[in-house]
Amino acid sequence: MRITVRVNGEEHQADCWEGESLLFALREKLGFPGSKNACEQGECGSCSVLLDGTLVCACLVLAAQAHGHEVVTVEGLSHDGELHRVQQAFSETGAVQCGFCTPGLIVATAELLVRNGAPSDDEIREALSGNLCRCTGYAKIFDAVRLAAAR
Ligand code: FES
Ligand code: FES
Repeated sequence: MRITVRVNGEEHQADCWEGESLLFALREKLGFPGSKNACEQGECGSCSVLLDGTLVCACLVLAAQAHGHEVVTVEGLSHDGELHRVQQAFSETGAVQCGFCTPGLIVATAELLVRNGAPSDDEIREALSGNLCRCTGYAKIFDAVRLAAAR
């Protein structure tokens, strides 16, 4: 089947089979490799994207379900070569080690800050509970979220 989906503000089309994930379509067919495929089971959050503004695991959404909808990936957060404040904060605070979890954490943090501009530590913990990081121990990630919120 042929899907039409708006990704980061531009309309794209792709031929997908019925069981194909949105993550696979984004990475392999539409040219958006920023969302990472780590578990492909909805466990790690590394594939997090916004679907019509709602945070989802792209590995759990069928490409067909995104037909006619709006997707924002980590690539879509920066504008005109300027990093999004969350991307900048992750970079400045050293919240990135291997970087595999980073795109998902950045999308989840950006979504959190739209809903709640001054989250408490508990609210940050809750919002990022679906995003696993094996490297950082999370302290630097919390620093990044606090810095982005402060800005
Ligand atoms: S790759 Fe989607 S949740 Fe892990
Ligand atoms: S920086 Fe390596 S998994 Fe988070």
